[in-house]
Amino acid sequence: MKVGVFDSGIGGLTVVKSLLEHQFFEEIIYFGDTARVPYGIKDKNTIIRYAIEAVEFFKNFELDLIVVACNTVSAYALTEMRENATCPVVGVIESGALAAKNALTCKDANILIIGTKATVNSKSYEDELHSLGYNNLEAKATGLFVPLVEEEIYEGEILESTFKHYFEDIKSPDALILGCTHFPLIAPALQNYFGEKCQLIHSGDAIAQYLEKEFDFIERYPNPEIKFFASENPEALRKIAKKWLKL
Ligand code: DGL
Repeated sequence: MKVGVFDSGIGGLTVVKSLLEHQFFEEIIYFGDTARVPYGIKDKNTIIRYAIEAVEFFKNFELDLIVVACNTVSAYALTEMRENATCPVVGVIESGALAAKNALTCKDANILIIGTKATVNSKSYEDELHSLGYNNLEAKATGLFVPLVEEEIYEGEILESTFKHYFEDIKSPDALILGCTHFPLIAPALQNYFGEKCQLIHSGDAIAQYLEKEFDFIERYPNPEIKFFASENPEALRKIAKKWLKL
């Protein structure tokens, strides 16, 4: 199987990491729209337009599947991507909500969703979680984490004061949905802030769980071919991919 993985920038590499761990694909084509990141502060029509352009780009590769490794795009543009694509398109929000359900034992568990402004405004996670019977929900846009991760700031003073800025009035939840694919990079710091009892839900692990259930992966590929593309400075993206994915 040949998969296309799409994100607004480098965040989707956290999803590639999970896909590699599961060895699902023979070939992975990654596209990061680095020239136009961040998407999380843009409006719905712009996000849809960019997402359709990504589908057009992927048409050069005869893919079997597109994984939208971006919560913002998954929240707004899945329908339009599916209309334009020649292969199935899966997003990370439905799978994220299902992963939360699998991780929690009780329906009145308190769930905190963090993501970009666009993702939080879409209420997509709330809709999915309500339909699974979870109503004790809170959502918070934490967009500053995106540039911090892009700057490779994963711990320390600046991050801690950003936590304080966003979370001062929030009590530790039973589960924290990392509703942005950049956020797993600061997962250890978030876990430390909210404590060990808080279950962190990661888009990459969630989509891997979902794909395992929905698709028949007959073979596994421990050494897939991976190609990285970016709309700006692909060399910088390749460098960071090598570092994060230990390639
Ligand atoms: N990685 C994107 C997401 O999952 C967010 C980054 C952006 O704002 O473009 O929502």
